[in-house]
Amino acid sequence: MPPATNRPPGPRGKPLVGVALELRKHGLNLLARCARDYGDLVYLPLAFGQTRLLVNHPDLVEQVLVVQQHKFHKSALSKVATGRLLGNGLLNSEGDFWRRQRRLAQPAFQKTRVNEYAATMVEHALAFTARWRDGEIRDIADEMSRLTCGIAVKTLFGIDLGAEADRVGENLTNLMRFQIHRIRSPLRISENFPTPANRRANAAFQYLDSLVYRIIEERRARGAGGNDLLSRLISAMDEDGTQMTPRQLRDETMTLFLAGHETTALTLSWTWYLLAQNPAAEAHVHEELACVFAGRAARPLEAKDAESLPYLDAVIRESLRLYPPAYIVARVAIEPFELGGYSFPVGTTILMSQWVMHRDPRYFPEPLAFRPERWLDGLAARLPAHAYFPFGGGPRRCIGQGFALMEAALVAATLAQRFRFELESGQTIVPEPLVTLRPRGGIRMRIHARKPEI
Ligand code: HEM
Repeated sequence: MPPATNRPPGPRGKPLVGVALELRKHGLNLLARCARDYGDLVYLPLAFGQTRLLVNHPDLVEQVLVVQQHKFHKSALSKVATGRLLGNGLLNSEGDFWRRQRRLAQPAFQKTRVNEYAATMVEHALAFTARWRDGEIRDIADEMSRLTCGIAVKTLFGIDLGAEADRVGENLTNLMRFQIHRIRSPLRISENFPTPANRRANAAFQYLDSLVYRIIEERRARGAGGNDLLSRLISAMDEDGTQMTPRQLRDETMTLFLAGHETTALTLSWTWYLLAQNPAAEAHVHEELACVFAGRAARPLEAKDAESLPYLDAVIRESLRLYPPAYIVARVAIEPFELGGYSFPVGTTILMSQWVMHRDPRYFPEPLAFRPERWLDGLAARLPAHAYFPFGGGPRRCIGQGFALMEAALVAATLAQRFRFELESGQTIVPEPLVTLRPRGGIRMRIHARKPEI
């Protein structure tokens, strides 16, 4: 640890536990308050002498994610949270191994390749929502999770999950809650000890594991030549003679499966939530759709349509600003480093929170207001590089950014042409910072069919 006289300011916290309990209970509020009260670099004391360094300035975030990125690894925190589920897949691996896997996966995420997925995304959205009835109430977060889960499996792995998709979301939610409680708990009971929570989590792990192995088997059984990501990973390994182990294939598949649908589902869920509370913005989305598609026979949207809807694009950006599904990224120092005029030793854990940065009034006037218009006059180009970073930054930036943004725009446009979502009264929607930022208990919305436009 740096000497007490040479470390950034921060809360003192309680004896022995520091701010650990508050971080566990009111994490988002604590981070935001610390940024406001202590500034761009904040030193957080936790239980048992552990500490975290909270970084709240775009230039300092840039230092960690880009300029000095070679001095950091993904933090042990993220690995504890996701390691058992995702293993040594792209999200968690490091060094040469990560570089090789990233190189293998990258071609599948090129724009031309991603555009090929557009038709599947739209077809799936249309088929999925065909069972919705005018006036019925559904948990829209759950619906979005099932919808994007089906899209991910079809586009990334070339298979249909059918009714199975329904169980996936439920198991993932339980697992995320379990994992995050585990990392925030000062006492970690072994996962092998048969507590009710451990038993439930183990059953969910086994279910998801067997599902992913089944996806891999089905893909292998169909032989070479598929243009989905999984086929590419299988054949790329065959080409250089070092067969990818079943375990590695499982880790990459699970990583893409999870990263590829959960975050996009949340983007869409928060977007419907925000639009329902902002009727003027909702009307603007409908007008833009009517205007762009005026006079054209009803036809499914295509990849290029996602680029001709600037207002919808601004709505999605603003939704990612206010409710970033990845609300925090963490790193641990593998070398000593300097930041903001301080020196830090190996092992320092750094937190950079999109939730905090995206609500910073220095960069976003009226930060709590949902104002898609703020993005329409070139704000993205004027902002410092990491004032807005829903997809992270530097070499570990999200590989699926283009995929996610196209999917969010196409699904949102397809649904908004046909439906309007009204928030059921009597709910308080609370963002729950698990591995991702989820609405606690879901978002119950009444679905209204927009018949004239159909
Ligand atoms: C709105 C949707 C999404 C958001 C907000 C998001 C956010 C992020 C963020 C912040 C990171 C960096 C994490 C870090 O630096 O520690 C990341 C990495 C990653 N994302 Fe996404 N993501 C989204 C969609 C997707 C999709 C659709 C896929 C795949 C189809 C995907 C696959 C990945 C992978 C594999 C990584 C690890 C990349 C690496 O380390 O090389 N993500 N994502």
